[in-house]
Amino acid sequence: MYISVAIDGPAGAGKSTIANIIANKFDLMYINTGSMYRAVTLMALRNNVDFTDVKSVCNLTKSLEMHFEGNSLIVNGEDVTEEIRNTTVSNNVSNYAAIPEIREILVKLQQDMSNKYNVIMDGRDIGTVVLKNSPLKFFLTASPEERAKRRYEELIEKGTSVEYNNILNDIIKRDYIDSNRAVNPLKKACDSIEIDSSKLSINDVIELISNYIEDYIRKCNVN
Ligand code: DC
Repeated sequence: MYISVAIDGPAGAGKSTIANIIANKFDLMYINTGSMYRAVTLMALRNNVDFTDVKSVCNLTKSLEMHFEGNSLIVNGEDVTEEIRNTTVSNNVSNYAAIPEIREILVKLQQDMSNKYNVIMDGRDIGTVVLKNSPLKFFLTASPEERAKRRYEELIEKGTSVEYNNILNDIIKRDYIDSNRAVNPLKKACDSIEIDSSKLSINDVIELISNYIEDYIRKCNVN
């Protein structure tokens, strides 16, 4: 029996930071599902396949062999980890992620991974769709203002000149798109544990989630 941990939540809530640490702590494979939607978008853009041409996007997606090596995403043998974070991909990914047929292909891939490995997955539909039967589901939130502040500080530290208000507006816009799209919108599963990290440190969140996982491992005697 494999352990699968689901972490959902809006953009900037700290999902990937938390998932990474938990993955190392419990020796789980970290699957960042947003990266998979980004990889499809990158390949579609490279091949001039528009998101409205669903058939071609599907054919392209089916031709991609994706796997994770640590924190890197390898697609058809190429490490695309850096490139999928560029602005062009970021600005286009929600269009490709909204295609039901693409979601079906990627959800199946994600479920296959969870049937082969102990995993922690983060995304938007993990607790509601991909790992809906997992007993370890978390919904990580933080206020839009707190998420904007964190992103602002991160970018300033990197030397990028940004306006706090622009970041806040982008976050509010992305929340709306992610929560209101027709297929698999961002939604807390009714049996997910909600953690509002607005006033918690990373260590506080790690400790909370770790307690649930340890409790589960103890009860089920897995690992
Ligand atoms: O988490 P991220 O910003 O890297 O996600 C990129 C895009 O993919 C974003 O528009 C939300 C979408 N996404 C999704 O629809 N379902 C997921 N499971 C993960 C991400």
